[in-house]
Amino acid sequence: MFAASMLQRRAFSVSARNLSKVTVLGAAGGIGQPLSLLLKLNPRVTELALYDIRGGPGVAADISHVNTKSSVKGYEPSPTGLASALKGAEVVLIPAGVPRKPGMSRDDLFNTNASIVRDLAKAAAESAPDAKLLVIANPVNSTVPICAEVYKSKGVYNPKKLFGVTTLDVVRASRFVSEIKDTDPKDENITVIGGHSGVTIVPLFSQSNHPDLTNNAELLKRVQFGGDEVVQAKDGAGSATLSMAMAGARMADSLLRASQGEKGVIEPSFVESPLYKDQGVTFFSSKVELGPNGVEQIHPIGKVDANEEKLIEACLGDLKKNIEKGVKFVAENP
Ligand code: NAI
Repeated sequence: MFAASMLQRRAFSVSARNLSKVTVLGAAGGIGQPLSLLLKLNPRVTELALYDIRGGPGVAADISHVNTKSSVKGYEPSPTGLASALKGAEVVLIPAGVPRKPGMSRDDLFNTNASIVRDLAKAAAESAPDAKLLVIANPVNSTVPICAEVYKSKGVYNPKKLFGVTTLDVVRASRFVSEIKDTDPKDENITVIGGHSGVTIVPLFSQSNHPDLTNNAELLKRVQFGGDEVVQAKDGAGSATLSMAMAGARMADSLLRASQGEKGVIEPSFVESPLYKDQGVTFFSSKVELGPNGVEQIHPIGKVDANEEKLIEACLGDLKKNIEKGVKFVAENP
């Protein structure tokens, strides 16, 4: 009798530890929908909360018919909708916000998206302060510092749990290299550092399987401006959504794997970083080892060549301004 109840309790505590609620804010959007679908297919996700200013319940009803075990619920901005969607979340992803149209830079989205992200960060700081927050909304270089400032103002900022999602840059780099070299992209691990827009995106080909690619200007341009290819091809209908959903789902899965005890999970992502802090660049994307509490270790950049050194220099100038813009926004519009 005692042994049976002990066993039951142990079984419960093992499964309880692996209960992972994941919340998507902006779930009815171009990224939000396929991202939510991919999360529904992830066996590590046990509860999926889908929030949007419109359409959350519809997307949730649709996805809830997919025959995997997780429960799915949609939320609307009723007085408690956002708070309920966030309560108990282990991971919160923010793909809410407007996407680019042809000719726009990510910074052009600042005016609209800064306040959307600020308000969602306020809600997350109040209802899910311990969750890992994954910011997809652009301009990531500024929206991540915005979240940090909001969390600081609420007294709940933990730099180990705030991530700008730059995974798509890594995904693109490995795919583009594999196309050139006729290899399998799964074998092409390209480290991409810096930020997430134009020249702030710095792929380190000298550290890859193909150091010769460091002089390939066309490839560099594709990695830095790959998002523009999609914006132009969609011709006014938005930016990358499907590849971004895959990248966001991969980042969320990496965090869940690490929180469930897997060691050596590394994802380049945009986090508060000591690497270039002395130059006033307080957030930087580099190889980040993930652990149960989020950031476990920020790896050094490693050896780069002269070409890449120049790229890093150009990156730092822009990045510093983007970060300062986010910090200033919250100071002036708390
Ligand atoms: P979308 O316009 O298709 O979807 C955005 C969704 O956010 C809509 O459903 C809208 O109702 C919702 N929304 C707006 N304000 C909201 C609020 N206050 N609370 C909750 N939901 C809200 O846009 P899409 O294509 O899904 O892009 C979303 C964002 O992701 C854009 O800012 C885009 O630039 C960014 N993005 C980031 C990438 C990255 O690599 N980090 C790659 C591609 C896009």
